[in-house]
Amino acid sequence: MPLIPMRVMLDHAAENGYGVGAFNVNNMEQIQAIMMAATETNSPVIVQASRGARSYSQDNYLRHLMLAAAELNPQIPMAMHQDHGNSPETCFSAIDQGFTSVMMDGSLEADGKTPASYEYNVDVTKQVVDKAHALGVTVEAEIGCLGGIEDGHGAGLSGDEAQEHLTDPEEAERFVKDTGCDALAVAIGTSHGAYKFTKKPTGDVLKMDLIADIHRRLPDTHLVMHGSSSVPRELLDIINQYGGDMKESYGVPVEAIQEGIKHGVRKINVDTDNRLAITGAIRKVFAEQPEKFDPRDYMKPARIAMAEVVKARMIAFGQAGWADKVPVVSLDEMAKRY
Ligand code: G3H
Ligand code: 13P
Ligand code: ZN
Repeated sequence: MPLIPMRVMLDHAAENGYGVGAFNVNNMEQIQAIMMAATETNSPVIVQASRGARSYSQDNYLRHLMLAAAELNPQIPMAMHQDHGNSPETCFSAIDQGFTSVMMDGSLEADGKTPASYEYNVDVTKQVVDKAHALGVTVEAEIGCLGGIEDGHGAGLSGDEAQEHLTDPEEAERFVKDTGCDALAVAIGTSHGAYKFTKKPTGDVLKMDLIADIHRRLPDTHLVMHGSSSVPRELLDIINQYGGDMKESYGVPVEAIQEGIKHGVRKINVDTDNRLAITGAIRKVFAEQPEKFDPRDYMKPARIAMAEVVKARMIAFGQAGWADKVPVVSLDEMAKRY
Protein backbone atom coordinates (compact mmCIF):
# COMPACT_ATOMS: atom_id res chain seq x y z
CA MET A 1 0.00 0.00 0.00
CA PRO A 2 1.36 3.47 -0.77
CA LEU A 3 1.92 5.79 2.18
CA ILE A 4 -1.31 7.64 2.95
CA PRO A 5 -1.94 11.09 4.44
CA MET A 6 -2.04 10.95 8.23
CA ARG A 7 -5.32 12.89 8.19
CA VAL A 8 -7.13 9.90 6.66
CA MET A 9 -5.98 7.69 9.50
CA LEU A 10 -6.88 10.20 12.20
CA ASP A 11 -10.33 10.82 10.67
CA HIS A 12 -10.95 7.07 10.76
CA ALA A 13 -9.70 6.91 14.35
CA ALA A 14 -12.08 9.72 15.32
CA GLU A 15 -15.03 8.07 13.61
CA ASN A 16 -14.34 4.84 15.48
CA GLY A 17 -13.13 6.20 18.82
CA TYR A 18 -9.54 5.00 18.91
CA GLY A 19 -6.06 6.53 19.06
CA VAL A 20 -3.01 5.88 16.90
CA GLY A 21 0.50 5.59 18.33
CA ALA A 22 3.15 7.56 16.45
CA PHE A 23 6.50 5.88 16.96
CA ASN A 24 9.86 7.53 16.29
CA VAL A 25 12.46 5.82 14.13
CA ASN A 26 16.12 6.32 13.32
CA ASN A 27 17.06 3.02 11.69
CA MET A 28 15.92 -0.16 9.96
CA GLU A 29 15.37 -2.24 13.09
CA GLN A 30 12.98 0.32 14.60
CA ILE A 31 10.93 0.43 11.40
CA GLN A 32 10.89 -3.37 11.32
CA ALA A 33 9.80 -3.54 14.96
CA ILE A 34 6.84 -1.26 14.24
CA MET A 35 5.85 -3.32 11.21
CA MET A 36 6.14 -6.56 13.19
CA ALA A 37 3.78 -5.16 15.82
CA ALA A 38 1.41 -3.76 13.18
CA THR A 39 1.09 -7.01 11.25
CA GLU A 40 0.57 -9.01 14.44
CA THR A 41 -2.19 -6.70 15.60
CA ASN A 42 -3.63 -5.57 12.23
CA SER A 43 -2.91 -1.93 13.10
CA PRO A 44 -2.54 1.18 10.95
CA VAL A 45 0.77 2.89 11.71
CA ILE A 46 2.29 6.33 11.97
CA VAL A 47 6.07 6.26 11.68
CA GLN A 48 7.74 9.54 12.55
CA ALA A 49 11.22 10.99 12.22
CA SER A 50 12.59 13.97 14.07
CA ARG A 51 15.07 16.36 12.50
CA GLY A 52 17.78 14.53 14.40
CA ALA A 53 16.55 11.20 13.04
CA ARG A 54 16.56 12.50 9.48
CA SER A 55 20.10 13.72 9.80
CA TYR A 56 21.27 10.53 11.58
CA SER A 57 19.71 8.14 9.09
CA GLN A 58 19.95 10.41 6.04
CA ASP A 59 16.72 11.12 4.18
CA ASN A 60 17.41 8.77 1.29
CA TYR A 61 17.98 5.76 3.53
CA LEU A 62 14.90 6.62 5.51
CA ARG A 63 12.75 7.06 2.42
CA HIS A 64 13.79 3.73 0.96
CA LEU A 65 13.33 1.93 4.28
CA MET A 66 9.81 3.29 4.49
CA LEU A 67 9.09 2.27 0.91
CA ALA A 68 10.40 -1.22 1.73
CA ALA A 69 8.11 -1.38 4.76
CA ALA A 70 5.12 -0.40 2.59
CA GLU A 71 6.08 -2.89 -0.12
CA LEU A 72 6.51 -5.75 2.35
CA ASN A 73 3.30 -4.95 4.24
CA PRO A 74 0.73 -3.98 1.61
CA GLN A 75 -2.13 -4.64 4.03
CA ILE A 76 -0.97 -2.03 6.56
CA PRO A 77 -1.91 1.64 6.02
CA MET A 78 1.13 3.76 6.86
CA ALA A 79 1.77 7.46 7.27
CA MET A 80 5.25 8.97 7.39
CA HIS A 81 5.41 12.02 9.60
CA GLN A 82 7.97 14.75 10.28
CA ASP A 83 8.16 15.11 14.07
CA HIS A 84 8.79 18.63 15.45
CA GLY A 85 9.60 20.48 12.25
CA ASN A 86 11.35 23.64 13.48
CA SER A 87 10.69 25.75 10.38
CA PRO A 88 8.64 25.75 7.17
CA GLU A 89 11.83 24.77 5.30
CA THR A 90 12.21 21.59 7.38
CA CYS A 91 8.59 20.69 6.64
CA PHE A 92 8.97 21.42 2.93
CA SER A 93 12.09 19.26 2.65
CA ALA A 94 10.20 16.42 4.39
CA ILE A 95 7.38 16.76 1.86
CA ASP A 96 9.98 16.63 -0.94
CA GLN A 97 11.24 13.38 0.60
CA GLY A 98 7.81 11.78 0.45
CA PHE A 99 6.57 12.37 4.01
CA THR A 100 2.75 12.31 3.98
CA SER A 101 2.44 14.41 7.12
CA VAL A 102 4.44 17.14 8.81
CA MET A 103 4.49 18.81 12.18
CA MET A 104 5.21 22.52 12.10
CA ASP A 105 6.15 23.14 15.70
CA GLY A 106 5.83 26.90 15.83
CA SER A 107 5.33 26.85 19.59
CA LEU A 108 9.09 27.35 19.65
CA GLU A 109 11.22 29.55 17.44
CA ALA A 110 13.42 27.97 14.76
CA ASP A 111 16.12 27.24 17.37
CA GLY A 112 13.69 24.67 18.81
CA LYS A 113 14.19 26.16 22.29
CA THR A 114 12.75 29.65 22.66
CA PRO A 115 8.99 29.87 23.27
CA ALA A 116 7.55 31.73 20.28
CA SER A 117 4.85 34.39 20.08
CA TYR A 118 1.31 33.49 19.00
CA GLU A 119 1.77 35.58 15.83
CA TYR A 120 4.99 33.77 14.88
CA ASN A 121 3.33 30.40 15.44
CA VAL A 122 0.34 31.31 13.25
CA ASP A 123 2.59 32.71 10.53
CA VAL A 124 4.88 29.67 10.14
CA THR A 125 2.05 27.17 10.59
CA LYS A 126 -0.11 28.88 7.98
CA GLN A 127 2.76 28.86 5.49
CA VAL A 128 3.07 25.11 5.94
CA VAL A 129 -0.67 24.47 5.84
CA ASP A 130 -1.03 26.36 2.54
CA LYS A 131 1.69 24.40 0.78
CA ALA A 132 1.07 21.01 2.42
CA HIS A 133 -2.68 20.97 1.85
CA ALA A 134 -2.22 21.85 -1.83
CA LEU A 135 -0.30 18.56 -2.03
CA GLY A 136 -2.66 16.54 0.20
CA VAL A 137 -0.12 16.40 3.05
CA THR A 138 -1.39 16.54 6.65
CA VAL A 139 -0.25 19.25 9.08
CA GLU A 140 0.13 18.91 12.84
CA ALA A 141 0.79 22.12 14.78
CA GLU A 142 1.46 22.86 18.45
CA ILE A 143 0.17 25.48 20.83
CA GLY A 144 1.65 25.74 24.32
CA CYS A 145 5.10 24.37 25.20
CA LEU A 146 6.07 21.01 26.60
CA GLY A 147 8.10 20.86 29.79
CA GLY A 148 11.40 19.08 30.07
CA ILE A 149 14.87 19.88 31.27
CA GLU A 150 16.84 16.99 29.80
CA ASP A 151 18.59 16.22 26.54
CA GLY A 152 18.42 19.78 25.27
CA HIS A 153 14.93 19.00 23.96
CA GLY A 154 12.42 21.83 23.66
CA ALA A 155 12.39 24.96 25.75
CA GLY A 156 14.04 23.35 28.78
CA LEU A 157 11.20 24.47 31.00
CA SER A 158 11.24 23.40 34.62
CA GLY A 159 8.06 22.25 36.40
CA ASP A 160 6.69 25.71 37.31
CA GLU A 161 7.68 27.32 34.02
CA ALA A 162 6.07 24.46 32.11
CA GLN A 163 2.82 25.07 33.99
CA GLU A 164 2.86 28.65 32.66
CA HIS A 165 3.15 27.37 29.09
CA LEU A 166 0.30 24.88 29.17
CA THR A 167 -2.14 25.15 26.28
CA ASP A 168 -4.80 27.80 26.78
CA PRO A 169 -8.04 26.28 25.41
CA GLU A 170 -9.34 29.61 24.16
CA GLU A 171 -6.08 30.30 22.33
CA ALA A 172 -6.14 26.78 20.89
CA GLU A 173 -9.58 27.45 19.43
CA ARG A 174 -8.41 30.70 17.84
CA PHE A 175 -5.21 29.09 16.58
CA VAL A 176 -7.00 26.34 14.67
CA LYS A 177 -9.30 28.92 13.06
CA ASP A 178 -6.29 31.07 12.15
CA THR A 179 -4.22 28.24 10.65
CA GLY A 180 -6.48 25.42 9.42
CA CYS A 181 -4.17 22.73 10.78
CA ASP A 182 -5.43 19.13 10.83
CA ALA A 183 -4.05 18.06 14.19
CA LEU A 184 -3.03 19.98 17.26
CA ALA A 185 -0.39 19.04 19.81
CA VAL A 186 -1.31 20.34 23.23
CA ALA A 187 0.82 20.97 26.30
CA ILE A 188 -0.82 19.36 29.31
CA GLY A 189 2.16 18.83 31.61
CA THR A 190 4.11 16.11 29.79
CA SER A 191 7.69 16.38 28.60
CA HIS A 192 9.95 14.38 26.31
CA GLY A 193 12.37 11.77 27.58
CA ALA A 194 12.63 9.40 30.52
CA TYR A 195 12.32 11.89 33.38
CA LYS A 196 8.82 13.30 33.26
CA PHE A 197 7.48 12.95 36.80
CA THR A 198 9.09 12.09 40.13
CA LYS A 199 5.99 10.24 41.31
CA LYS A 200 2.92 8.75 39.67
CA PRO A 201 1.31 11.83 38.11
CA THR A 202 -1.97 13.16 39.43
CA GLY A 203 -4.27 15.79 37.94
CA ASP A 204 -2.25 18.69 39.40
CA VAL A 205 0.71 17.96 37.09
CA LEU A 206 -0.86 15.97 34.25
CA LYS A 207 -3.77 18.13 33.16
CA MET A 208 -6.04 15.72 31.37
CA ASP A 209 -8.99 18.04 32.07
CA LEU A 210 -7.48 20.53 29.60
CA ILE A 211 -7.90 17.92 26.86
CA ALA A 212 -11.62 17.64 27.50
CA ASP A 213 -12.02 21.43 27.43
CA ILE A 214 -10.04 21.78 24.18
CA HIS A 215 -11.98 18.92 22.58
CA ARG A 216 -15.28 20.56 23.50
CA ARG A 217 -14.16 23.71 21.68
CA LEU A 218 -12.55 21.91 18.75
CA PRO A 219 -14.50 18.70 18.19
CA ASP A 220 -13.19 18.33 14.61
CA THR A 221 -9.49 18.83 15.35
CA HIS A 222 -7.42 15.76 16.10
CA LEU A 223 -5.55 16.26 19.37
CA VAL A 224 -2.00 15.00 19.79
CA MET A 225 -0.25 14.01 23.01
CA HIS A 226 3.53 14.38 22.93
CA GLY A 227 5.82 13.00 25.60
CA SER A 228 3.49 10.06 26.02
CA SER A 229 5.91 7.33 27.02
CA SER A 230 4.84 5.50 30.14
CA VAL A 231 8.41 4.79 31.30
CA PRO A 232 7.51 1.34 32.66
CA ARG A 233 9.34 0.33 35.82
CA GLU A 234 10.21 -3.06 34.34
CA LEU A 235 12.11 -1.47 31.44
CA LEU A 236 14.12 0.74 33.81
CA ASP A 237 14.83 -2.32 35.96
CA ILE A 238 16.22 -4.35 33.05
CA ILE A 239 18.59 -1.52 32.11
CA ASN A 240 19.78 -1.13 35.71
CA GLN A 241 20.06 -4.89 36.26
CA TYR A 242 22.54 -5.06 33.40
CA GLY A 243 24.83 -2.19 34.30
CA GLY A 244 22.74 0.86 33.36
CA ASP A 245 22.09 3.90 35.50
CA MET A 246 18.49 5.03 35.15
CA LYS A 247 17.03 7.04 38.03
CA GLU A 248 13.57 6.40 39.41
CA SER A 249 11.02 8.01 37.13
CA TYR A 250 7.36 7.99 36.16
CA GLY A 251 5.81 8.50 32.75
CA VAL A 252 2.29 9.02 31.45
CA PRO A 253 0.08 6.14 32.61
CA VAL A 254 -1.54 4.27 29.73
CA GLU A 255 -4.91 4.73 31.48
CA ALA A 256 -4.50 8.52 31.30
CA ILE A 257 -3.88 8.24 27.55
CA GLN A 258 -6.96 6.05 27.21
CA GLU A 259 -8.94 8.76 29.01
CA GLY A 260 -7.52 11.30 26.55
CA ILE A 261 -8.62 9.12 23.63
CA LYS A 262 -12.18 9.39 24.93
CA HIS A 263 -11.79 13.19 24.63
CA GLY A 264 -10.37 13.66 21.16
CA VAL A 265 -6.74 12.48 21.42
CA ARG A 266 -6.04 10.68 18.14
CA LYS A 267 -2.23 10.66 17.89
CA ILE A 268 0.02 9.58 20.73
CA ASN A 269 3.77 10.11 20.43
CA VAL A 270 6.01 7.42 21.88
CA ASP A 271 9.77 7.27 21.53
CA THR A 272 11.38 6.89 24.96
CA ASP A 273 9.68 3.58 25.86
CA ASN A 274 11.09 2.03 22.70
CA ARG A 275 14.55 3.43 23.42
CA LEU A 276 14.40 1.91 26.91
CA ALA A 277 13.31 -1.48 25.55
CA ILE A 278 16.11 -1.54 22.96
CA THR A 279 18.76 -0.47 25.46
CA GLY A 280 17.69 -3.05 28.05
CA ALA A 281 17.75 -5.88 25.51
CA ILE A 282 21.20 -4.93 24.22
CA ARG A 283 22.62 -4.54 27.73
CA LYS A 284 21.27 -7.97 28.66
CA VAL A 285 23.13 -9.63 25.77
CA PHE A 286 26.32 -7.73 26.53
CA ALA A 287 26.15 -8.67 30.22
CA GLU A 288 25.13 -12.29 29.84
CA GLN A 289 27.07 -13.17 26.70
CA PRO A 290 30.15 -10.95 26.66
CA GLU A 291 31.72 -13.14 24.00
CA LYS A 292 29.16 -12.04 21.39
CA PHE A 293 30.26 -9.57 18.75
CA ASP A 294 27.87 -10.11 15.82
CA PRO A 295 25.48 -7.10 15.88
CA ARG A 296 22.63 -9.44 14.94
CA ASP A 297 23.04 -11.17 18.31
CA TYR A 298 21.92 -8.03 20.11
CA MET A 299 19.93 -6.20 17.44
CA LYS A 300 17.47 -9.08 17.05
CA PRO A 301 16.47 -9.15 20.74
CA ALA A 302 16.43 -5.35 20.69
CA ARG A 303 14.01 -5.37 17.75
CA ILE A 304 11.78 -7.92 19.48
CA ALA A 305 11.80 -5.90 22.72
CA MET A 306 10.69 -2.77 20.85
CA ALA A 307 8.03 -4.71 18.91
CA GLU A 308 6.58 -5.93 22.23
CA VAL A 309 6.26 -2.37 23.54
CA VAL A 310 4.74 -1.12 20.28
CA LYS A 311 2.31 -4.03 20.20
CA ALA A 312 1.16 -3.33 23.77
CA ARG A 313 0.59 0.35 22.92
CA MET A 314 -1.30 -0.48 19.70
CA ILE A 315 -3.65 -2.67 21.70
CA ALA A 316 -4.03 -0.14 24.52
CA PHE A 317 -4.68 2.81 22.18
CA GLY A 318 -7.34 0.80 20.31
CA GLN A 319 -5.75 0.93 16.83
CA ALA A 320 -5.32 -2.86 16.80
CA GLY A 321 -7.75 -4.55 14.44
CA TRP A 322 -8.39 -1.54 12.19
CA ALA A 323 -5.67 -1.76 9.50
CA ASP A 324 -7.89 -3.35 6.88
CA LYS A 325 -10.69 -0.85 7.48
CA VAL A 326 -8.84 2.44 7.01
CA PRO A 327 -9.76 3.87 3.59
CA VAL A 328 -6.91 4.22 1.12
CA VAL A 329 -6.88 7.84 -0.03
CA SER A 330 -4.11 9.22 -2.23
CA LEU A 331 -2.37 12.53 -1.65
CA ASP A 332 -3.98 13.87 -4.84
CA GLU A 333 -7.44 12.89 -3.66
CA MET A 334 -6.75 14.44 -0.28
CA ALA A 335 -5.56 17.67 -1.91
CA LYS A 336 -8.91 17.95 -3.68
CA ARG A 337 -10.76 17.52 -0.37
CA TYR A 338 -9.05 20.50 1.27
O1 G3H B 1 10.88 14.87 19.99
C1 G3H B 1 11.37 13.95 20.61
C2 G3H B 1 11.61 12.62 20.05
O2 G3H B 1 11.79 11.71 21.09
C3 G3H B 1 12.75 12.62 19.06
O3 G3H B 1 13.94 12.79 19.70
O4 G3H B 1 15.19 14.59 18.51
O5 G3H B 1 16.38 12.86 19.87
O6 G3H B 1 15.36 12.27 17.67
P1 G3H B 1 15.30 13.16 18.88
P1 13P C 1 8.48 10.43 24.71
O1 13P C 1 9.85 10.95 24.98
O2 13P C 1 7.61 10.48 25.92
O3 13P C 1 8.50 9.07 24.11
O4 13P C 1 7.78 11.41 23.65
C1 13P C 1 8.10 11.34 22.29
C2 13P C 1 7.55 12.50 21.52
O5 13P C 1 6.71 13.25 21.97
C3 13P C 1 8.08 12.69 20.17
O6 13P C 1 7.60 13.83 19.55
ZN1 ZN D 1 7.24 15.51 20.79
